[in-house]
Amino acid sequence: MDVMLIGGGGREHAITKYILKNPEINKLYVLPGNGGISKIAECVNIDAENIPEIINFAREKNINFAVVAPDDPLAMGLVDELENIGVKCFGPDKKAAQIESSKIFSKNLMHKYNIPTADYEIFDKNNIDGALSYVAKSDYPIVIKADGLAKGKGVTVAENFKQARDAVISCMKNKIFGSSGENILIEKFLTGPEVTVMSFTDGNIIIPLISSMDHKRINDGNKGANTGGMGVIAPNFYYSDEIADECIKKIFIPTLNALKSENIKFKGCLYFGLILTSEGPKVLEYNSRFGDPETQAVLPLLKTDLFKIMQAVRDEKLNEIKIEFENKYSCCVVLASGGYPGQFMKGFEIEFNQDELNKIPNIEIFHAGTKFEDGKFYTSGGRVLAINSVGNTPEDARSKVYEAVKFVNFENKYFRSDIGAC
Ligand code: GLY
Repeated sequence: MDVMLIGGGGREHAITKYILKNPEINKLYVLPGNGGISKIAECVNIDAENIPEIINFAREKNINFAVVAPDDPLAMGLVDELENIGVKCFGPDKKAAQIESSKIFSKNLMHKYNIPTADYEIFDKNNIDGALSYVAKSDYPIVIKADGLAKGKGVTVAENFKQARDAVISCMKNKIFGSSGENILIEKFLTGPEVTVMSFTDGNIIIPLISSMDHKRINDGNKGANTGGMGVIAPNFYYSDEIADECIKKIFIPTLNALKSENIKFKGCLYFGLILTSEGPKVLEYNSRFGDPETQAVLPLLKTDLFKIMQAVRDEKLNEIKIEFENKYSCCVVLASGGYPGQFMKGFEIEFNQDELNKIPNIEIFHAGTKFEDGKFYTSGGRVLAINSVGNTPEDARSKVYEAVKFVNFENKYFRSDIGAC
């Protein structure tokens, strides 16, 4: 079978590695891929958002199955277009992808079906004055969210009126996120530990994966700017069996039922960004895809064949698959270019001390912003690599991953030193 994977980050390197374990895959193309992916699959220089070229490529190569991993092509309807030309897809269609691509859609869904989330108000593009007078009389902190996709930058936690007013004006008036930020949500700030639970759903049943904890801020102690994610520990320490049961009953199954009631069949990975408040677990956000870097930590714990699961999701046969995980811990540390998530330099050679790395058991290195040229790897993005380790205890996983971090080097290498410890 000839398969195509869309995307080029660390998440896609992990998916590439794990789906290639399936012997049915004859050829795997990754569009556009990255330096690490190019060592195990054929990378094709087509951007993940270039829908017409992706469709042409799928036709030309007679692709049988596609995995669409990033949010933008999902929101643009790539799955609909591929399915229309006979390519089976893992990933939600455009209508289902709205659960991530429109925060207003997902909030209204939660409100309508009593799924616990923060209280909120919606302000459309004609109501900038309404948004400004709302923030003038709010308690702080408060959360301001652009409705649409904004490359992970559309959420502002405002500590005071000035920050809130600036965020409202940047989104609605100055349109820094284009049409994605014309309409906004303003919601109550919630406190508590955050948990990611990714799930597989074929639109009929939903199966949660092992929980995890992303570390979104750039600096140790969860300080500094928000990033795409600087590291993960899985499972999440705070996600007890009792809380998991509560989430299944009050959040996961109600979300699936809500989508069904709206005639939406979500087929793919449905990501729940949760917060454990004193009033119980609540949804902070849904994503219509695997998380990055959560995927790099969770897939190494998955015992079941990933590609078989993806096929079962597409064919609505998820009830026929038993999904099993290792009873172990994963710790994943992202190595970033110094300066990320702001400005950073790229093009530095990456040196892997393979002799030393080989001495550390159960280590995997996933490439994100890397390219391979003339026999060498170079940095080409903000998040460069994710190093993951699996261990029998969280401390075992942590200590091995931080040992491995010492043996991968490039100029301006930056990483958090407290992944899994805070
Ligand atoms: N790590 C958060 C995300 O993938 O959205």
